[in-house]
Amino acid sequence: MIVGILGLGHVGLPTALGFAENGWSVIGADRDSAKVAQVARGEAPFFEAGVQETLQRHLNSGLLQVTDSIPSAVESCDVLFVCVGTPQGDDGAADLSQLEGVAITIARNLNGYKLIVEKSTTPVRTAERLKRTISRYANGNHEFDVAVNPEFLQEGTALHNFLNPDRVVLGVETERARDLLLELYRPLVARSELAGDNPEDRLIVTDLNTAELIKHASNAFLATKISFINMVGDICEAARADVKEVARGLGMDPRIGPRFLGAGAGFGGYCLPKDLRAFVRIGELNGVDMSLLRAVENVNDERINKLMHKVHEALWVVQGKTIAIWGLSFKPDTDDIREAPSLKVVTRLLDEGAYLRLHDPLALAEFQKEFPEQVGRLEYYDSPYEAAAGADAIVLLTEWRDYLTVDLSQVRDTMEVPLLIDGRNLLDPAAVRSLGFEYHSMGRR
Ligand SMILES: NC(=O)c1ccc[n+]([C@@H]2O[C@H](COP(=O)([O-])OP(=O)(O)OC[C@H]3O[C@@H](n4cnc5c(N)ncnc54)[C@H](O)[C@@H]3O)[C@@H](O)[C@H]2O)c1
Repeated sequence: MIVGILGLGHVGLPTALGFAENGWSVIGADRDSAKVAQVARGEAPFFEAGVQETLQRHLNSGLLQVTDSIPSAVESCDVLFVCVGTPQGDDGAADLSQLEGVAITIARNLNGYKLIVEKSTTPVRTAERLKRTISRYANGNHEFDVAVNPEFLQEGTALHNFLNPDRVVLGVETERARDLLLELYRPLVARSELAGDNPEDRLIVTDLNTAELIKHASNAFLATKISFINMVGDICEAARADVKEVARGLGMDPRIGPRFLGAGAGFGGYCLPKDLRAFVRIGELNGVDMSLLRAVENVNDERINKLMHKVHEALWVVQGKTIAIWGLSFKPDTDDIREAPSLKVVTRLLDEGAYLRLHDPLALAEFQKEFPEQVGRLEYYDSPYEAAAGADAIVLLTEWRDYLTVDLSQVRDTMEVPLLIDGRNLLDPAAVRSLGFEYHSMGRR
């Protein structure tokens, strides 16, 4: 069986490598020829732990081939995982044009039975439409099945997540599709058997619509946890309580769990914001009251205002002030800045006439594509120390571990004013203040 991966982005490339790691022959295809050429040279097009080395290994082993010809990938493969983007459209609903484009190409190049697996995150009933589109454009020429296998990887640990999934969700309509997918995922399931788990605890075989809903509902729930703790953080701030301790106490309850309870500048990235909006939209189109999730979104949108309010309270006049930004990626361990809070914060500070000195361990190059350097106005630094030198304040926007090991007394000595606004509650308030900093965080005493 040859596995095809259509779309070599943050999901497609780790997926291709994961299947190659499990011994399958994989053809990865993307319409972006420059990206394909880069991948073919053994260069990962984005930062993701382990991807670069694994890519080089499987190009050499021959298990992975890449192409910018989607038709040839369709012709050569038995199973096709569709991993194209499903960005947000103008009305908040998912823009499914990449998915439709790939469906039409698949249909026109069918040369025998294929299993087409939707891995992209999509609103419920998209797989039905995928199937209808392929049927229309294939003119009934060949047999095929459509399945849904949503991806739950997290950027920064994508390859690890693929190889050690907390769950595998398979939405299928036929036994043939189910058997093929189970064969593909058997090595992962076998690994969990070795680890002493019951594989059934990690595997869900269900219908197409349910599989799509599991993904959207998961992301909506994670977003809800974050907005919930941010709301609690605002109450903590008003009541002079500490949201980190409240979150710790909450998370000790096994029914709640400790993760996704970090109060701060809110969630960003390619998944939570757009998937939440798409879920709200599909719910409303189906006549469901989605006000709970609308509130989740509103709370998140307000985080930037909350952070900017802190900046104004601390700095008074922003115009003409020099501000160091520590952290640009939407979360640590990735260079992805899609929907990162930093995009909004930098825009607002620039509009207000601040001079910005930006640092991020990985995302500087990506950020510069959106905000080119302007000497004296918007500058990029490889070191957090250099970024902070001469600044009137540091605004910390991503909880990189690197910032925990910065020598803050050295930073303090080079700043114009030792003022730190911690948008992620990363640092210890007492420790930072003891070094002579004025320190503000989100929802803490
Ligand atoms: N990024 C994540 O953490 C994550 C996690 C789980 C699920 N998802 C979902 O997976 C999907 C892909 O996300 P991503 O982050 O990998 O996106 P991405 O933008 O990084 O990658 C999408 C890739 O698809 C390619 N593409 C677009 N149209 C194509 C076509 N017709 N033929 C071939 N290639 C085509 C693009 O060139 C691009 O390389 C989305 O639906 C997303 O919501 C993302």
